[in-house]
Amino acid sequence: MTERKQGFHLDPGEKAGLTLALALLGLFFAMIVYAAKGLKIDVPTCVTNLKPFETGKLIEHADKRYELHILARMWLFDLNEGATEITIPAGSVVDIFVTSKDVVHGVHIHGTNFNVMAIPGSVGYMRVKFDKPGVYHVVCHEFCGVGHQAMQGKIIVQ
Ligand code: CUA
Repeated sequence: MTERKQGFHLDPGEKAGLTLALALLGLFFAMIVYAAKGLKIDVPTCVTNLKPFETGKLIEHADKRYELHILARMWLFDLNEGATEITIPAGSVVDIFVTSKDVVHGVHIHGTNFNVMAIPGSVGYMRVKFDKPGVYHVVCHEFCGVGHQAMQGKIIVQ
C-alpha cells in the first residue's frame, strides 16, 4: 500500500499556468496605473455635481447653441415645460442635461451617441451636435414600470 502524501501539491504545469496568469494580472494593473498617472488618460464622465432641476427646459443661446434640460419621469420625457417635442435648427450644438423625478430611467437619443442614465438626485450631461435634419426619437432604455415602452420624446431638427 502506497502512502498518500499529505499537504498541498501543485503540478508543475499548473504552477507555470498560475504564475503566468498572476504575472499578466500584475502587468495589466501596472499598465492601467501607467495610463492613468503617467499618460494622464482619463475616462470622460457624464456625471455632474449640478443641482437636479424640476422641469424640462430648452434654453437658446447665440449661434445655434442650446441648453436642454430633460426631466425624465413616469412615463414621459419633459423636454420643455411639459412638452415632449422640441424643434431646433440643423447644425445646433446642444448641451444636454438629464435628471429624473422618480425612478431610474435610461435616456437614449436615436441617431446620436447620447446615452445617459436619468438618476433621481443627480444630473447627467453630454453635448450633441445635430447636423442632419430629421426627427430624433428620445427613448427610455431602462425598464421603469408599466408605462416604460410609452416613454418617448422627439427632437425635430429642421
Ligand atoms: Cu423610463 Cu423606462
